[in-house]
Amino acid sequence: AEGVHIPKQSWPHAGIFGTIDKAAAQRGFQIYKEVCSACHSMHLAPIRTLAGIGFKEDELKGIAAGYEVHAGPNDAGEMFMRPGVPADRFPSPFPNDQAARAANGGALPPDLSLMAKARVGGEDYIYAFLTGFEEPPPDVHVMEGMNYNKVFPGHQVGMPNILQPDGVTFADGTKATVEQQAHDVATFLTFVAEPHLDARKQMGVKVILFLLVLAGLMYAVKRKMWSTLH
Ligand code: HEM
Repeated sequence: AEGVHIPKQSWPHAGIFGTIDKAAAQRGFQIYKEVCSACHSMHLAPIRTLAGIGFKEDELKGIAAGYEVHAGPNDAGEMFMRPGVPADRFPSPFPNDQAARAANGGALPPDLSLMAKARVGGEDYIYAFLTGFEEPPPDVHVMEGMNYNKVFPGHQVGMPNILQPDGVTFADGTKATVEQQAHDVATFLTFVAEPHLDARKQMGVKVILFLLVLAGLMYAVKRKMWSTLH
């Protein structure tokens, strides 16, 4: 938007041979869980999607049980909350959009399931957005409850600058700088938006190899069939 430049980052999952960095995606999930999920849902992603970045069945159950999901109606016709199971999707922390807006100064935290596809720049935008909070230029008046972000369209955004250095502690010892966290959560959101991308790419490579072999074989057969004709 407005000619804002979104710098390209280097992603291990880029390109036809690229695959998701699972360790990074696991750290990214930790950030989603501990930070982003206070406001953002991922309504299109079942919790068991995490199996694709290496979480085991019992871990999935534990993670799911940590979420409260809406259920019902029960026999009395009432809605109620129950602990999640891996088939549930990552729920919104708010009962509805009105409540979400009320808690966020009128802004609605968008669902993050497809965020890596939803903005021009994809994961590079997510990275730039999360690292893009800064002091506004002196001539810019930031409205009450809004925050200045150098890549958000219009620059005034309802989301606070949420990533803090060492705001999370990674079990694998990775230092949790703001840039590291932005990179990891963008990797995670890329995976969530397209959990089967690695498998599709690998199939694509196999298909091309197969076609190359087949082309060679057909050429050999053609030479043999026509060899009596000179
Ligand atoms: C918007 C990501 C944490 C509240 C967004 C957007 C992204 C995003 C990509 C869309 C920006 C756009 O439309 O271009 C994240 C990530 C988080 C996080 C990855 C965790 C690291 C939070 C938290 C809150 C929050 C904790 C609440 C305190 C919002 C709101 C908006 C928003 C209200 C809408 C802003 C507007 O339209 O003005 N977030 N977010 N986010 N986020 Fe977050």
